[in-house]
Amino acid sequence: MLVRRIHVPEPWQGEDGIDREAWPYTIPAVAEIADKGLEFRRPVTFLVGENGSGKSTIVEAMAEAYDIDPRGGRGRIQRRRDPGDKSVLGRDIELEPTALGAKYAANRKLKSRSYFLRAETAFDFIEFISSSDIIIPGYWQDDLRVRSHGEGYMTVLRTILGEPGLYLLDEPESALSFASCLQMVGLLHDAGRAGAQIICATHSPVLAATPGADIVEVGEHGIRRPAWDELEVVDHWKRFLAVPDKYLRHIVDA
Ligand SMILES: Nc1ncnc2c1ncn2[C@@H]1O[C@H](COP(=O)(O)OP(=O)(O)O)[C@@H](O)[C@H]1O
Ligand SMILES: [Mg+2]
Repeated sequence: MLVRRIHVPEPWQGEDGIDREAWPYTIPAVAEIADKGLEFRRPVTFLVGENGSGKSTIVEAMAEAYDIDPRGGRGRIQRRRDPGDKSVLGRDIELEPTALGAKYAANRKLKSRSYFLRAETAFDFIEFISSSDIIIPGYWQDDLRVRSHGEGYMTVLRTILGEPGLYLLDEPESALSFASCLQMVGLLHDAGRAGAQIICATHSPVLAATPGADIVEVGEHGIRRPAWDELEVVDHWKRFLAVPDKYLRHIVDA
């Protein structure tokens, strides 16, 4: 593991303190990070929660704080950003490294083994890399555009997760079929074992079932760590799949 905790240093202090009345500190999970920090306990951590609960805000801020391009991509391509370009939380949070993380942070080559994959931009990014004449070390070279979105995506994931580093993924399941999600569980699990640290926002009960992963549920309550089968999303899926009509009769007139 590379990052053991995130926190907001001295959030209570005077004029330089954070504004709790303003976004993003109005998000309960972000307010809790400001109060108590958030520990990472396992190589693979899932952030689970409803739309708007703050998953992307947290993952993006971590990418910014680690100098990974928040539009998605590798640390290495990224010029050092002006602090003014960062989001409020990206500027405010501090990543507490493990001993290994401190070693990575001090070494450009090691630090560049980091990646931020966001669902919305992944496809553009695949196109950019595939159509580019530049050979970017560390990126796959075959033309991914000729493959389906899902296959291209799996290739990206397999390539980038192959070496130890910090990987921030925002809803990586959006392009994936059920079977591909299962494959991805295998990838995440193996990557975690091989020294990668993955922090992944997801709505997928399949991904969240990755053995040995830590599940952090964000929501109105702030932050909690339920077991997989106590997750709201798991409960909804189980009940929906058992009797879809129970949900749908509230949505559509029969
Ligand atoms: N730049 C921004 N300024 C103000 N509010 C924002 C900004 N970005 C996101 N939000 C709001 O913050 C909340 C959390 O958003 P987000 O982190 O994207 O949630 P999630 O990824 O869990 O769906 C939402 O209510 C969203 O509308
Ligand atoms: Mg999001």
